[in-house]
Amino acid sequence: MEAKAHIHRALQLAERGLGHVSPNPMVGALIVTPAGDVVGEGWHEGPGTPHAEVMALAAAGDRARGATAVVTLEPCNHIGRTGPCTEALIASGITSLVAATPDPNPLVNGSGFDRLRAAGLDVQVGPGAEAAKHLNRAFERHVTAGLPWVTLKMASTLDGKTAATDGTSRWISGAEARSDVQRLRAWADAVIIGSGTALADDPSLTLRDPALTHALSPLRVLVDSSGRVPPRGRLFDTAAPTLIATTERTPDRRLREWEAAGSEVLVCDAAPNGRVSLAGLMSHLGKRDVQGVLLEGGSTIAWGAVAEGVIDEVVLYVAPKLLGGADAPSVLSGQGFAPIGQALQLDLTSAEPIGPDLKVVARVHRDHRGAR
Ligand SMILES: NC(=O)c1ccc[n+]([C@@H]2O[C@H](COP(=O)([O-])OP(=O)(O)OC[C@H]3O[C@@H](n4cnc5c(N)ncnc54)[C@H](OP(=O)(O)O)[C@@H]3O)[C@@H](O)[C@H]2O)c1
Repeated sequence: MEAKAHIHRALQLAERGLGHVSPNPMVGALIVTPAGDVVGEGWHEGPGTPHAEVMALAAAGDRARGATAVVTLEPCNHIGRTGPCTEALIASGITSLVAATPDPNPLVNGSGFDRLRAAGLDVQVGPGAEAAKHLNRAFERHVTAGLPWVTLKMASTLDGKTAATDGTSRWISGAEARSDVQRLRAWADAVIIGSGTALADDPSLTLRDPALTHALSPLRVLVDSSGRVPPRGRLFDTAAPTLIATTERTPDRRLREWEAAGSEVLVCDAAPNGRVSLAGLMSHLGKRDVQGVLLEGGSTIAWGAVAEGVIDEVVLYVAPKLLGGADAPSVLSGQGFAPIGQALQLDLTSAEPIGPDLKVVARVHRDHRGAR
């Protein structure tokens, strides 16, 4: 059986859950006969709905007998909102299973495979593991550490600038990159900006791509330490919920204005510099089941997040433009790391053209997380 090709298809199915399965993982499944025919496909559509395996088995019916189940994630072996998938697979007469990855959830973590092997099924684990782990990186971070996975997204010119000297930054990147950002927003449970971006750009931070209408707009998080942002503008519309993370420095009057405008207000601990502690904010977001965070602010909050060690991944859209200007902000501001050997090391994940621009994805090396 072409395990890799089938896993590839199962991953495509899993991605159909983008933007509406959280806090569950995205999962896809196929039922493949010994002759290689795909007789059932399934994907998880969200909390409380059937798991991918159950949907694929229902489509396959009797043809599942003697077939192979191909899944992107280990089948569950516990009773959650739906029954255990392991029992459904055994009852169907499936004789083998190919899974991309074990489930990092401590409630499963290998026990699904054990149960299937004990019932006599042949179990193979590993094909497509890297792509499957990437798809559910936020789920894994949250289920193992109780914290969200944080992706810092920026658009810069080829000379590293993120805005012109007059503060304008729309648009540095092209339509294709902006449409890709919509997919990142659909992946995210929360999108964060700092007060500087709220004041400069009045962003809506919602999902507008018609291809993503099934996905939920993420929670919008404004980080404003002292109440600089008035309760006006798109962040205060009803298109998506807004949380304002602030500190005790904000006057009561402003807190009440924000609440009256429909926002939730969270008074956070302050970092030593008096600004909102981003590590504290991430911990709060993790507790309310936020798994994927997209940091979409400017270079000030980007540096704050890097300096506090809360970033997992960077997505940078680089436009073939030159802006110049010693005072024009670059990807990160702040005091920076020095000497050069103190630079935060990332591992390059990918670099590919996107429209007229280049999309670069890199991950903070695991050993460096939280090290600063
Ligand atoms: N090219 C891009 O990808 C991109 C993306 C977004 C924005 N921009 C541009 O960037 C410019 C705005 O830049 P900006 O740097 O002022 O925006 P920002 O980084 O979104 O907001 C900065 C503000 O966030 C607040 N903040 C709260 N807690 C913080 C913390 N722990 N660390 C750091 N900051 C914290 C601070 O204000 P308080 O002290 O008042 O809390 C700070 O001044 C605009 O011109 C905008 O168009 C570009």
